[in-house]
Amino acid sequence: RKSIDELVDVDIEGTVAREIFVDDELFEQELEHIFGRAWLFVGHIGLVPNPNDYFQSRMGTDPVILTRDKAGGIHVLLNTCTHRGMKLCRSDQGNTRTFTCPYHGWSFSTDGRLVSRPGGLYGVPGYEKNYHSELDKEKWGLIPVPRVETYKGTVWASWDIEAPSLLDYLGDMRLYLDYALDYRDGRPDGAEVIGGVQKWRVKANWKMIPENFIGDLYHDVSHRSVDSVGIGPSGKGRRDKFGNRVTLCFPQHGHGVIGQLPFYEEYEGVSGTWGDDAETREYHERIHHSRVERFGDRMRVSMSVGTIFPSMSFHGRQPRTIAWVHPLSATETEMWRIFLVDRDAPDSVKDQARRYYMRYSGPGGLTESDDMENWSYATRASTGWRSRQLQFNYQMGLGHARPVPELAHAVENGEYNEENARAFYRRWAQFMNADSWKEIPMPVGIGNRASTHREVR
Ligand code: FES
Repeated sequence: RKSIDELVDVDIEGTVAREIFVDDELFEQELEHIFGRAWLFVGHIGLVPNPNDYFQSRMGTDPVILTRDKAGGIHVLLNTCTHRGMKLCRSDQGNTRTFTCPYHGWSFSTDGRLVSRPGGLYGVPGYEKNYHSELDKEKWGLIPVPRVETYKGTVWASWDIEAPSLLDYLGDMRLYLDYALDYRDGRPDGAEVIGGVQKWRVKANWKMIPENFIGDLYHDVSHRSVDSVGIGPSGKGRRDKFGNRVTLCFPQHGHGVIGQLPFYEEYEGVSGTWGDDAETREYHERIHHSRVERFGDRMRVSMSVGTIFPSMSFHGRQPRTIAWVHPLSATETEMWRIFLVDRDAPDSVKDQARRYYMRYSGPGGLTESDDMENWSYATRASTGWRSRQLQFNYQMGLGHARPVPELAHAVENGEYNEENARAFYRRWAQFMNADSWKEIPMPVGIGNRASTHREVR
């Protein structure tokens, strides 16, 4: 077998072996080295707003439950009964005081404790009579994910206790997360999830999806049908195109975004793409000015879409959405999407966003349908004996990256290039080669620079 560095040669040859998109052994290694170590997005607090709310999520192929306990604390718990492994919670989302295992009836509270009610239906059935009150319930609670952090409504988790803090992990990419999450005034509870969680499966390798969102402007041609139909925010015309599009990435972290220059002349509210409704236009214009005030001296671009390594992508303007992927196998992936709107936006603004989401993103949206075809056919056409020996080409713009004046750890490389994808696979190789977090390079001084930024309210 080739080494990871032979499979991923993005700096000299600009190639990535197709093997990493189809191979079962490498997939197993990814589960441990990437999904077992990285910070993974597991949900939004808007999905668990009340005490004892829960939302079923995943980390790699492991099912987890995001819960809010009865005191309001947030937990991420492995969704498997500690007695004999039964999947404990099988509803997507809901509210419960306890999770009771359907197999033998052990019950767990929303903070993961194995509970006990002597003689009752709940707890450990037969605790006194059959276990002679000797079972150590403290030891047999649900397995908690050891590192959980929330950031402006988003919930992240890592299995690795040695992982850096979430803020260090995000680096300056955090600015763009702020841009998406602080849409109106920076309040952490300012956004709500509308329309539930959309979930669907794609017969494609998981990496193709965040790779697309991290910086692939070159695939414009795929969406010609979308432009013909006209699904801009107003429901008319082409997709949102304005200013100079550029990719920008944080190569040491493996994150990246697509955005438009210059930031100050962002289109929202000024170019008419929001249609004829006066209330909606006025709202977005106000948002635009508020964002210029809050981010203007730090942001290089007005962000449209980006990826946080390894599996979370998000759109910063409209549609304001988080799309994240759960690998099922080397060649199949489940995609989930949530859509965010400002909680106190006028109904007309929410309604317009809802319509845009339906026609633009998700399994019923035109852009997603276009891309799903690309990813699944590219995966299928790489599984054959001969085709899997080949490489994908990531040579566009190789050697032409330049520093970003506003951001110490970032580079940009014009409109059409594969800089961000190269950064993604370079980071992938670092994780795959490492035996622990100590061996994964992190930029020197990360976090320091972020802390010099003006704090967002
Ligand atoms: Fe859950 Fe036995 S497997 S109680």
